[in-house]
Amino acid sequence: MKKASISCIYTPELIHQAQLEGKIAVVIDILRATSCMVAGLGAGVPAIRPFLEVATCRSFRDQGYLLAGERNGEKLEGFDLGNSPLEYESAAASGKKIAVTTTNGTRSLAAVAAADQILVGAFLNQSALIEYLANQSKDIVILCAGWKGTVNAEDTLFAGALVHGLQSTHTAQDDASLMAKLLYQSQKGSIAAFLSSTSHAKRLSGLNSDLDIELCGSQDKYSVVPILIEDEIVRKD
Ligand code: MLT
Repeated sequence: MKKASISCIYTPELIHQAQLEGKIAVVIDILRATSCMVAGLGAGVPAIRPFLEVATCRSFRDQGYLLAGERNGEKLEGFDLGNSPLEYESAAASGKKIAVTTTNGTRSLAAVAAADQILVGAFLNQSALIEYLANQSKDIVILCAGWKGTVNAEDTLFAGALVHGLQSTHTAQDDASLMAKLLYQSQKGSIAAFLSSTSHAKRLSGLNSDLDIELCGSQDKYSVVPILIEDEIVRKD
């Protein structure tokens, strides 16, 4: 049987190069938006609703949502949570849904709207995501959130983890996937150290983010597969 394909787009600015119709899109923002989403849903947050604009996100407080988000890594004024996966884990105790807006992560979710299914990935749910994708026999487009239109190393690293983990079921379609896989194969024994060396880790360094980065590099803490359904990200049954 012909294998399905997997391809990789390094930033949302390049998403016009992908054909999304009929495919599964996997959005990755390891530091930190998709790690937060996986951590929150894994810890019991019922749903997460992503927004592009701060004002629209803020308006959801009236509907009982906790507000989460950042710009340039910093928590937004008046919001309940910033963009820390630890905060998302703690927020689960409230039983409330989360409305979120971030610099690159929520934009990336919007950029793949044409896909058949939109999933959220991070090291925190690596194996569960790979197992789910391997059983779908559908073409996959990975979208890395990057940083303001530039490529970043941590999203590319996790894209490589997916390409590597799916090599028996999915054929790498482009050189972006091939390069991501080679990066993962060379760094898979030192993910935490690799994440700490990235430019975004340096950008976050004044914001007490060491524990966030450590958590974002933990593999398989959760077995959730987050999926976007009718504007909200929920756990796939
Ligand atoms: C983003 O969406 O750009 C990020 O997750 C930024 C951050 O680390 O807070």
